[in-house]
Amino acid sequence: MSCLDEAGDKRVHWEDEVITMKVRFELNGKKVEAETTPYTSLLDMLREELDTKSVKKGCESGECGACTVLVDGLPMTSCIILAPQAEGRHITTIEGLEHNPLMIDLRQSFIENGAIQCGFCTPGMLISSYALLRDNPHPTPEDVKIGIEGNICRCTGFTKIIEAVLDAAERIAPE
Ligand code: FES
Ligand code: FES
Repeated sequence: MSCLDEAGDKRVHWEDEVITMKVRFELNGKKVEAETTPYTSLLDMLREELDTKSVKKGCESGECGACTVLVDGLPMTSCIILAPQAEGRHITTIEGLEHNPLMIDLRQSFIENGAIQCGFCTPGMLISSYALLRDNPHPTPEDVKIGIEGNICRCTGFTKIIEAVLDAAERIAPE
């Protein structure tokens, strides 16, 4: 794309203005390098450059939680993190927890408790629930509400999701 400058006599090529950079970090336990721009979100870099499609794009303003990933172990919304901020970090998505015993129990509990309908919120919801149960294996219903308060589901209502997380907690730490 190009246009004339303010004086109307010099053609400006916007493509020439695009700055790209390399970001190196660990994604799901593997070292990766991605070509990105300073203003690309971590969400877009994960989805478009690294084909990590479990990370969903919803509000893109940090409100819905669909894009939640673990950054150095903490659940964060990747749409409001800039891609270069991932440099040197450990990013974990659902793909990286596929064989994790806690995540396997959580997935099964979500299925058995009917906590999934369209599934759009589910990866982010599972990531937040995983972080909650990892740090607090015996949560109260109130703990679960606080743990997933950044994740919005438009389909199920939250009752079944809360039940699913509590059910998973019982499977993991039955006493
Ligand atoms: S897409 Fe990131 S919080 Fe909604
Ligand atoms: S299952 Fe559809 S938004 Fe949660």
